[in-house]
Amino acid sequence: MADIEIVPVTLYDMDWADMAISESLKRGNPVLARSKEEIKRLIERGNLLKALYHDAGSSNAGLITLEECDGIAELRTLCVPEEYAHRGIGQRLIESLVTLACNNGYEKLYLFASERERGGKTLVEFYAGLGFHDLGKFLKEGKVNEKEIISNLSAIGHPEWYPDLQTKLLNYCYGCQKYQKNLCDEHAMVKIF
Ligand SMILES: CC(C)(COP(=O)(O)OP(=O)(O)OC[C@H]1O[C@@H](n2cnc3c(N)ncnc32)[C@H](O)[C@@H]1OP(=O)(O)O)[C@@H](O)C(=O)NCCC(=O)NCCS
Repeated sequence: MADIEIVPVTLYDMDWADMAISESLKRGNPVLARSKEEIKRLIERGNLLKALYHDAGSSNAGLITLEECDGIAELRTLCVPEEYAHRGIGQRLIESLVTLACNNGYEKLYLFASERERGGKTLVEFYAGLGFHDLGKFLKEGKVNEKEIISNLSAIGHPEWYPDLQTKLLNYCYGCQKYQKNLCDEHAMVKIF
């Protein structure tokens, strides 16, 4: 019977990780492009995990990263190649990343997910099913969607986390094409440990 194992990516796998991200991007998936330098930095920190799919043999079958910046932990760059989809690999990668963030001392993990629909379901719904709270549309007119985000943070008892979202905007969004063209369709989501 097939088995899924989640392990840290090593420098030996760098070319594979680079290719897996490029392939996902080529298919038009909402994944962030990564330079080889960034991939190397993530590997050296132990923040890039991969799924090993053990069947007749063992194959690399997906990856995920923990981005740590200014005290904020974020799930990024989740991709599972199409030939391994729908086998629970995405879910296992997410669970392992939650454990990694928890072990690194965080009390919560953010992610930003497209509200684009596929097969009658959005990624926001996928993550909500795995225990992430939907904080609503992240941006409005180029700024953090303050009213909705604070209201949703208050509903989960943490309005004081609002500055984390401003930090995210400052650190990552200005260089993003989607932000510049006012095309960002992402929802902010958070999982509390
Ligand atoms: C999203 C993704 C990681 C899921 O991987 P997976 O190993 O197939 O996930 P699981 O087997 O654990 O769960 C499958 C469920 O994910 C959900 N799902 C997968 N892709 C989805 C998408 N694009 N939109 C909405 N839901 C999706 C479906 O509910 C699916 O259920 P089903 O198998 O009953 O159809 C994978 O489809 C992928 O790499 N997509 C492209 C990259 C991407 O969108 N990354 C997320 C960036 S925020």
